[in-house]
Amino acid sequence: MSKNVENEGYLDQTLRPNTWNDYIGQEHIKNNVRILLTAASERNHPAEHILFYGPPGLGKTTIAHLIARETGRNLKTTSGPAIEKVGDLASLLTNLQPGDILFIDEIHRLNKMIEEVLYPAMESGVLDIIIGKGPSARTIQLELPPFTLLAATTRVALLSAPLRSRFSGGTFRLEYYTVPELEKIIARSATVLGINLDNKALTEIAVRSRSTPRTANYFLKRVRDYAQVNKQDLNEKTIREALALLGIDEYGLTPTDRNILTILIDKFKGGPVGLATLSAASGEEEGTLEEVVEPYLIQQGLLERTPRGRIATKAAYEHLSFD
Ligand code: ADE
Repeated sequence: MSKNVENEGYLDQTLRPNTWNDYIGQEHIKNNVRILLTAASERNHPAEHILFYGPPGLGKTTIAHLIARETGRNLKTTSGPAIEKVGDLASLLTNLQPGDILFIDEIHRLNKMIEEVLYPAMESGVLDIIIGKGPSARTIQLELPPFTLLAATTRVALLSAPLRSRFSGGTFRLEYYTVPELEKIIARSATVLGINLDNKALTEIAVRSRSTPRTANYFLKRVRDYAQVNKQDLNEKTIREALALLGIDEYGLTPTDRNILTILIDKFKGGPVGLATLSAASGEEEGTLEEVVEPYLIQQGLLERTPRGRIATKAAYEHLSFD
């Protein structure tokens, strides 16, 4: 289930906020980015490069779209794994119009050779192209149109220091959302989808949404399906039934989350257990555990990462009713 929730991969275009005012939460980012953009536009200059990082589903791509929209710039979107060769990046960069915004999602998955082409492009607006091989190889330098790079990653620690340092506009971490923020997001999405929800129903979805708008919107669509198919009203009761059917408990934990905690407690006496062992015991990939499953369990105080491995907390024992 966690895979379905987290890997939905995109936020329904229709539910994506179109203006800063519709974008709820992340006030620190909004305030800072707004100043950066306004200052740049007053100086008639493209904004400096900005890096966004944080767990999946918190709105990194949405912010990139909003920045483009609010500044009236074109947005070209790509991702680390899609840029396979130096030539792919060269073609992207040379095809930009002055002032365009390039958004690279999952930038931690760019390979080293491509990173090295990106450095001078970000720093000095030039592209160094090597022509030929061996002693007769030559470098030619192409001047690029001025552009802004926006990048997003779930794994900021995997970015090399030189790459990180070139985000001269700043590096911002997206925070998990509070329940009141999620309620506002769900209320807005419900309006967009033409669904009527009372306050109790909003809260019922929000508290189970893993502090994540993508999950909140996903649950909203699933509970709507459930009510429609069962010809029921969409209220607190149907929401509980629909989410129970998906295996979501009152903390918003998925079967995968509970399985990880149960393995920690049952098989390893609560830990500490290394990531590789936990991965082998649960059948979940290490990357999925680190990026998707663990951040929320840690945020909920159910799991701790220590130098000796993962530990289930007292709250995890209580939540899963272990003594
Ligand atoms: N949808 C996804 N993220 C959102 C946010 N932060 N505000 C409003 N709607 C959203």
